[in-house]
Amino acid sequence: MADNNSFPGENNTGHVWDDNLRELTNPPPRWWMLAFWASVIWWVVYGVLYPMWPVGHESNKGLIGWTQMDEYIKGVDEVEAIRAEFETQIKGMSAAEILVAPGLSQYAVASAKVLYGDNCAPCHGGGGQGGPGYPVLADDDWLYGGTIENIQQTITMGRKGIMTAHGKILSDTEIDSLSKAIEAGDPMSDPNFTQKGCIACHGMDGKGMAVLGSANLTDGIYRFAPAEGESLLDSIKHTIKYGVNDATEPKSREAVMPKFGERLSADDIKKLAVYVHKFGGGQ
Ligand code: HEC
Ligand code: HEC
Repeated sequence: MADNNSFPGENNTGHVWDDNLRELTNPPPRWWMLAFWASVIWWVVYGVLYPMWPVGHESNKGLIGWTQMDEYIKGVDEVEAIRAEFETQIKGMSAAEILVAPGLSQYAVASAKVLYGDNCAPCHGGGGQGGPGYPVLADDDWLYGGTIENIQQTITMGRKGIMTAHGKILSDTEIDSLSKAIEAGDPMSDPNFTQKGCIACHGMDGKGMAVLGSANLTDGIYRFAPAEGESLLDSIKHTIKYGVNDATEPKSREAVMPKFGERLSADDIKKLAVYVHKFGGGQ
């Protein structure tokens, strides 16, 4: 082909297409060649220092002995060291102290997130929003008190508020009248409230007592929300008639907060108490 080069004297390779399209032998620019050789050297040096070449089923070890696994283990160790420091602090502190320790309370919240999701969210909802029969944890309306100690005790010991069924003790008219007074947010306006013994558990002011978990009947917040299609008045009547956790009454409302003292460590419970307190309703 070179013999009939139609562009003699030119630095072409002798390959010509379409009459005048030629392949020339110009060298690449200098900067390009420098970059090329630099990357070749880099590749060789890297291959000597780090594992790169296949050797049997593995690879060469590399002069500096780096492995991905070592790097991973080192990373995990670093995280563990930071965690261990926080965990030691938590062990020696009360939940109330953790709550006000800035870095530590953040750690407790982050670490309780999974615990809460696994153990509590099925009943109380992911954000403490509650559910039918399960109290809201994110507001400041508490059955058993909202201090960090109250919450810690609730989680450790569990809770089971008991209200006896009043269907056999009270007439329908009395239940009706009491329910209307409660719906209006003023149970004391009905003399039955005092005379029929409601005050024994719900208090002289109808606001409930934290030791018993007896609900506040004056705030318009209902721990037992009406079922679908049921009116609020009927739902209140149901509670009065059949009670709560009354074992002798099959239609009684059920409300049991399981105890976690045996299932979770004391430190995990402290973290959870901080987590729940920080939903915003803690007192
Ligand atoms: C099986 C369902 C269930 C699970 C699981 C559960 N709870 Fe409860 N929890 C309840 C019920 C029901 C009550 C109300 C008890 C009552 O009315 O006497 C309650 C009450 C509470 C209260 C008291 C609320 C108040 O107003 O005083 C707190 C705090 C609480 N739970 C936190 C938790 C935490 C934290 C977890 C997870 C470790 C958890 N609960 C897991 C059902 C549950
Ligand atoms: C033995 C104590 C006790 C007596 C007596 C009692 N209650 Fe209760 N009551 C409770 C407790 C405890 C709760 C909350 C139960 C729970 O949430 O686990 C409650 C809950 C209620 C609720 C539901 C409130 C809500 O937020 O959904 C109503 C309504 C109510 N009581 C009305 C009455 C009336 C009216 C009387 C008097 C006829 C009365 N109770 C007598 C202990 C009592």
